[in-house]
Order: sequence, then C-alpha cells, then structure tokens
Amino acid sequence: MRNVTADNITDVFMQYFGPDTDPRMREIMQSLATHLHAFARDVNLTHAEWQRGIEFLEAAGRVSDETRHEFVLLSDVLGLSSLVDMLHSSAAGTSSSVLGPFHISGSPPLPFGGDMKRHYEGEVLLARGTVTDTAGNPIEGAEIDIWQTAPNGLYSSQDEEQDTFSFHGIQTTAADGRYGFTTVKPVSYTVPTDGPVGDILRATGRHPWRPSHLHYIVKAPGFRPLVTEIFPDDDPYLDEDTVFGVRGDLVMKYEPHPADAFPEGYALSGTVTEPFLLAEFDLRLVPLG
Ligand code: BEZ
Ligand code: FE
Repeated sequence: MRNVTADNITDVFMQYFGPDTDPRMREIMQSLATHLHAFARDVNLTHAEWQRGIEFLEAAGRVSDETRHEFVLLSDVLGLSSLVDMLHSSAAGTSSSVLGPFHISGSPPLPFGGDMKRHYEGEVLLARGTVTDTAGNPIEGAEIDIWQTAPNGLYSSQDEEQDTFSFHGIQTTAADGRYGFTTVKPVSYTVPTDGPVGDILRATGRHPWRPSHLHYIVKAPGFRPLVTEIFPDDDPYLDEDTVFGVRGDLVMKYEPHPADAFPEGYALSGTVTEPFLLAEFDLRLVPLG
C-alpha cells in the first residue's frame, strides 16, 4: 500500500502480517496497534510528545537491571499489573495481588510459631490463619513464602543494613493447615521514585505510597499458586494504593491484646512484655484445572 493516510494506517498495519504468524501473536499485535493508533489520534500526539515518550522508555531501560525493574514499576503504577492479575484471578479463592519487585528466592524455612521480628523495634504482630481449599478443608504441606519491609520501609534487597533474608521466610503447613508466626507491624512505604517512573508520579501529582502489607506466595500440590498481600483496615493509604493492589477480601483487622494473652507455642512465648497485635487471615486456594 503506497497511499498510507492517517485514516487508513491502522487497516494497512493489519495487512502486514505473514501467513504463518501465530494467531495469538496476531491478535495481540493487531489490538495493540489499534489502541496505540487510537490513542495518538485521541490526544493528537505531537512530535515533541512522542519524542518525550521515547526518551522516557530509554531512561527506564537504562536504570533497569536484574534487581531494578523499572518497566514492572511502570506497569504497576499504570494499573496494568493489577488489571492482568484481576483478569486471571478466580472468585472462588483468596484474591491475588501484585508480586512487586522485591520478592527474592531461597528464603529460609520459618517453622510454625517462628519469629521474623528479631531485634527490630516496633510492635509485635502475630499473624496466623489456615490454608484451605475452596470448601474450607485445611491443606497440609502448603508452602507460604512470606516477606515484608523492615520498620524503615525498606526491603532487605534495598537496604545494606539488613541481612539478605531479613523479614523473609517460608512456612509449611501441617495437617491442620495452620500457619502462624510473629513479626514487626508492617509500615506504609513508598515505591522507588528516583527513576523515570518517579518523574511520572511527580508530573501527575501522585504520591508514591503503598499501604502497609504482608506479602504471601502460597503453593500446594494440586492448587493454583496464589500471589497475594494482606492489608490492615486502618492504613491511611488503603484507598489510594499507588499500585492498585488492595482488594476487599485482602483487608484484615489488627486486634490489640495485652502481653499476658500471648499464646503458647511461639518462639516469643513467655518473652512478650508489651501489648501485641493479632492478625487472623485464612488463605483459600483454588484447585488446578
Ligand atoms: C511491593 O509491594 O513490594 C511493591 C509492589 C509494586 C511496586 C513496588 C513495590
Ligand atoms: Fe511490598
């Protein structure tokens, strides 16, 4: 086609696919071009704005490496990560939520009742619950990969003061499906703003805060892996998470208890002298298939 115009370029693009193109690839690329062209027409995109967009993408590439994922962060703050999550989440189980860029592999085992708080300052949080199937039956042998920030709002991979696996642990459920551990009360924190995504947040008057949360990845044979987070109902950023990760069923309540109500069977049993918080949260897994 030599007579390409602003009106027909989208249709012309559709004709440029080879006959052996994978059908899903064709579907995705055709839809992408349709929406991209419509976007440029809609905002009447100028050369200078197009150039600015290209520079943004180049800058995101420059700051990215195997530990810094600026494009994932871009997807997160645009709501794309959460939308993809929700499109593939089953209503029968606990909602999924964003993985975020700070999960690390190889966390150490955290036995039932184990403690992740250690010497860190802050309120003791006892988190516990049951991993079940969609009928409420406990699941034995479910692995819960748990991680959170230290009280300074930084994950261990962002903070030279922390050990590699501080505030990371993997707990495996017994026949009763129960999990339980102590940690420090999580804090609200900001996503990284020192790269091009931070420039977008500032340019659009958005704050970079996430409500405080605990991250869980739950895996059990025969069930869909669940990547999720749980949030306390009193966090000031609950209704304005900058990465859109909060779902109604992931909100729980911290119940304050006096020190003498701290239960037996935990690493901290008998040592807690201040009031502590209890967070009860059951995790419901959806069968594979
Ligand atoms: C997190 O919760 O760790 C996170 C999620 C998205 C972007 C940045 C951090
Ligand atoms: Fe997080």
